[in-house]
Amino acid sequence: MNSLAGKRIVLGVSGGIAAYKAVEVCRRLMDSGAYVIPVLTKGATRFVGRATFDALASERTQMSLFDEDNPIPHTTLGQAADCIVVAPATARVIGAYAAGISSDLLTATLIATRAPVVICPAMHTEMWEHPAVADNIATLVERGVHIVGPESGRLAGGDEGAGRLSSPADIVAGVTRVLGAGSGPQDMAGLSVVVTAGGTREPIDPVRFIGNHSSGKQGYAFADEAAGRGADVTIVSTVDRPGPPGATVVSVDTAEEMAAATTKAAADADVVIMAAAVADFRPIDPAGVKLKKRDGVPAIQLEPTPDILASLGASKPEGQVLIGFAAETCDVADNAAAKLNGKGADYIVANDVTAENAGFAHDTNEVLVLASDGRAHSIGLRSKRQVAQAVLDLVVADRDGRADVR
Ligand code: PMT
Repeated sequence: MNSLAGKRIVLGVSGGIAAYKAVEVCRRLMDSGAYVIPVLTKGATRFVGRATFDALASERTQMSLFDEDNPIPHTTLGQAADCIVVAPATARVIGAYAAGISSDLLTATLIATRAPVVICPAMHTEMWEHPAVADNIATLVERGVHIVGPESGRLAGGDEGAGRLSSPADIVAGVTRVLGAGSGPQDMAGLSVVVTAGGTREPIDPVRFIGNHSSGKQGYAFADEAAGRGADVTIVSTVDRPGPPGATVVSVDTAEEMAAATTKAAADADVVIMAAAVADFRPIDPAGVKLKKRDGVPAIQLEPTPDILASLGASKPEGQVLIGFAAETCDVADNAAAKLNGKGADYIVANDVTAENAGFAHDTNEVLVLASDGRAHSIGLRSKRQVAQAVLDLVVADRDGRADVR
């Protein structure tokens, strides 16, 4: 498929064991019609030979900032590129890029370009989870850099964990999506999607309520992403914010109102995404007038609110995809698994809301996705929109592979 025809893509390769997969990325980019210019770091050549890329790519491999024929190779490459993808991206390259250090042709080109950049991290779990790497990724995400991966799986040395380079197919799909090419964006056309967003407000009296820190950003990111891929979107929201063009927004305040609106909208939905932070408890008997200090400290009796996710799970129509969330502060995987089994959802998207740059109100998030068939996918720190992209990529792929597609 020529989805990248006419696109000039700089393929940066840095020195990690996963560099051998860059050969497959190069071939797939070429097969998609792209014009590929390989830029290898010195470290990369300890794992793959430049001759391999010379044979596969549109131009010979470039490595040096000091080129006899061209005194400014980095600006030439950066200005002419439609996209720069770095696969694998080591902790060193990520750190240099975040710090603006141009110590070789690849990092100089990254800083010299105005084109979209796709970074595909690959490193051992301990390195991927190091605060310095997490901060560098958050910095790049906030600057609009796209992050693809890493996945969880087998690593060099026989270890298992997060930090494995995404598959060449996923990397090329990520580049295709960033360039807005290919049929990817409309892969939810015809689907009806319901998203809940924001934190509920449970009244104590007409002035006060029990609430939480949810801003609605993650829910709206799912609504934007689903709408951008052609879905018909309804947002049940506690946040005063318009949805994407064409979306229906149903405004609610309390868990009770969210339950009624979501149950109604979900009856005919293909996909339901419960990203809202719904209160588990509410005051049994909210006062009709503002409570006065002179009357002393009020004792507020609480009662459980309706469990919307559980009731949707119990009455899920055949073929409907139900995605629950889990806001955790510890034992994320275990708590998420308990919710997945207990609520009848197809997926649980779990986030540690105490993690840096993740959870409530941040522009970025980091999630663990558990599927009802036992699969687990770690989606490392990136923008909430990119989290939504990655989760919906999984849902669409599963739906396409399902017999009982609605
Ligand atoms: O909105 P942001 O600022 O962007 O923050 C994003 C987020 C942290 C709110 C989001 O990523 C998230 O974690 N949303 C779920 C928050 C939550 O209520 O998690 P929970 O573990 O308490 O609930 C589990 C699931 O049950 C959730 O899908 C929730 O919507 C649902 N639920 C909870 C209580 C209830 N009475 N009914 C429900 O349906």
